Amino acid sequence: MELYRRDALIEISFHIGYKTTMTLQTAQIQVPDGFIDLGRGDPDLNLLPLDMLHQAAQNRLSQSDNTFLQYGTEQGDGYFRAALANFLSQKYNFAVDFETLFVTSGISAGLDLICTLLTKPGDVIFVEEPSYFLALKIFADHGLQVASIRTDEAGLVIDDLAHALKESKPKFVYVIPTFQNPGGRTLSQERREQLVSLAKEHDFLILADEVYQFLNYTQKPPNSFASFIDSEHVISLGSFSKILAPGLRLGWLQTHASIINKITSAGVLDSGGGMNPFTSAIVRNVIESGGLDKNIEALNQIYKKRVKSMDEYLRKHLSAAEFETPHGGYFFWIRLPGVDVGELRKKAQAHQVGLRQGLLFSSNQGLSDYMRLSISFYDANDIEQGVIRLSECVKK
Ligand SMILES: Cc1ncc(COP(=O)(O)O)c(C=O)c1O
Repeated sequence: MELYRRDALIEISFHIGYKTTMTLQTAQIQVPDGFIDLGRGDPDLNLLPLDMLHQAAQNRLSQSDNTFLQYGTEQGDGYFRAALANFLSQKYNFAVDFETLFVTSGISAGLDLICTLLTKPGDVIFVEEPSYFLALKIFADHGLQVASIRTDEAGLVIDDLAHALKESKPKFVYVIPTFQNPGGRTLSQERREQLVSLAKEHDFLILADEVYQFLNYTQKPPNSFASFIDSEHVISLGSFSKILAPGLRLGWLQTHASIINKITSAGVLDSGGGMNPFTSAIVRNVIESGGLDKNIEALNQIYKKRVKSMDEYLRKHLSAAEFETPHGGYFFWIRLPGVDVGELRKKAQAHQVGLRQGLLFSSNQGLSDYMRLSISFYDANDIEQGVIRLSECVKK
């Protein structure tokens, strides 16, 4: 276990390689023409449902009720939460009470708000090794001391966590339990239960980032961590970014009333009201019309094929790659034994292909022979072309 140092934070854009600074830019990252960035973990523009949102917005904006243009209630639009609770109840197969939901403007904002309200600089938190590099950046913004816990095929290694708990008490443990970013792995049911027991015993919170929960292709994941909120030690975070569109900036967190009360007392909500009432009103329409279900189904069909393609092309063109085929989510987490992936990234960039190097996802400067590739942004043809370019760089 090593503490994560803020000064060890890497300039993310430098590592991605091509982030531009154009002032009229609309998307977070622009990919130059001809470049295939297989590291990129955001959805293909072709998969963002403009028509569905157009229809939903038209329906909502043609009604006389204009209350969604007012400051919203702190916990988030009640009608939207009711629609979301209904949707989640069906997906999870257990009843979700809308009073346990709090509307966020995405998981990133949810994490940031939790850090603001429930931590102070210098607090220790635990994360998985590897973990989502941009969550690490949020934790660094709050001056938190990050310690990493090993993961294996079944996710976070509970024995290692129990051992680490003898040395320090974390404020929270941040996990991405399902189809993890970047590892692609899923925390087993048994370990979920063990993690919750430890949280109760040692009095820490579990922040379960469940952004990929509904993107499953070949294996249904265990129940969401929302099934454990009665323990008063769990916050489950969800988002519309991967199942509808990230530009909506809409998500939710689900937790016990005692934690909801702490969150809704935030000054930012007193002043600005609940998050995104306008977007919530439109997405409510998407949920109630059955559009969200249809969209998830369509995405799962498409992503399932892309996973199959990536799997096939890696085996065909990049025989040195060691990886497990993911059952859901976006990512292939690939080990290239003996390869310095930092160097490979530089060569790859010159060959017009991008990857995310393992180092970005490490809290202790490790994982230098790993890379993350994604199936979210490119179709099968581009995926094959990208893998061929990468294999040429590895051969060199
Ligand atoms: C694990 C994980 N958490 C959170 C996010 C960002 O979620 P949001 O868009 O809801 O802030 C991502 C996006 O890549 C992610 O992979």
